Amino acid sequence: MSWTKKHLLDIESLTAEEIITVLDTARGFKAVGERAIKKVPALRGKTVVNLFIEPSTRTRISFELAAQRLSADIVNFSADASSFKKGETLKDTALNLQALNADFIIIRHSASGAPHFLSRVLDAHVINAGDGAHAHPTQALLDCFTIREKKGRIAGLNVTILGDILYSRVARSDIWALTKLGANVTLCGPSTLVPKTFEKMGCHVTHDVDEAIRDADVINLLRIQHERQRQTMFPSIGEYTQLFGLNKARFAKTKPDALIMHPGPINRGVEIDSEIADCGRSVILEQVTNGLAVRMAVLFLVNGGKAIEEPAK
Ligand code: CP
Repeated sequence: MSWTKKHLLDIESLTAEEIITVLDTARGFKAVGERAIKKVPALRGKTVVNLFIEPSTRTRISFELAAQRLSADIVNFSADASSFKKGETLKDTALNLQALNADFIIIRHSASGAPHFLSRVLDAHVINAGDGAHAHPTQALLDCFTIREKKGRIAGLNVTILGDILYSRVARSDIWALTKLGANVTLCGPSTLVPKTFEKMGCHVTHDVDEAIRDADVINLLRIQHERQRQTMFPSIGEYTQLFGLNKARFAKTKPDALIMHPGPINRGVEIDSEIADCGRSVILEQVTNGLAVRMAVLFLVNGGKAIEEPAK
């Protein structure tokens, strides 16, 4: 069991043991969240800043709750109401937040590499809450937590990620995490959004959705990332839904215990049929719940907290 990192910037730089350490520690914090008094004093006196320069619901609010439950002070930075509007740079903004005694900067930014850049100029802990199409490490950790909780293991499972892989930071972080933990990862979607080059990351790539979902233990659906696409990657949303959406006919062909996952926000009726999003095999909202425990674990560990030791799975 180990954790020595000052920052959480991506999954690529973590070992399998470090990923397991986060998952085990998060299990302890999930139990804390089920108690009447949900607060622990682990980060008392520390200041956490949510520096979100891109929109977010789940990640921003769960980091805010995670900091509160660890007894930290939390500040939410609003780009639209800030001196960003007057041309202040990201570096100057972050240095000013640090000058106000921020101990943690949690950053979401449209530019890949923005968290890595801040980690080089700040003394504060930097946590990546999503940078461009590059990485979303806490999403991958909560996805692994959810799979492990539901299936009891990750190694040997067939996990299919279906949708816009090319522009997805979730896909990249999930691929790193799942392959490090021994899952068999299949990627599927239109050839323009799922290039064969992803095979270099140790995945199977197919453009045949029936093949992709047939033997899957987990099907993780991704929305089309319109905000990052600089050109039209497929003819129409209707055609995407027809060819790659998880509809009832396709769902009927999946394994009876296959988990349905989605990082959110979901586009009902596009990548997932609305009834499937709400069905008993969908763990989409449990992913959100688990995100809180995982983000508590990340804040706790990067602050130097002692990892919780549990038998490895
Ligand atoms: N999954 C995810 O990152 O959602 P938000 O954009 O709402 O944070």
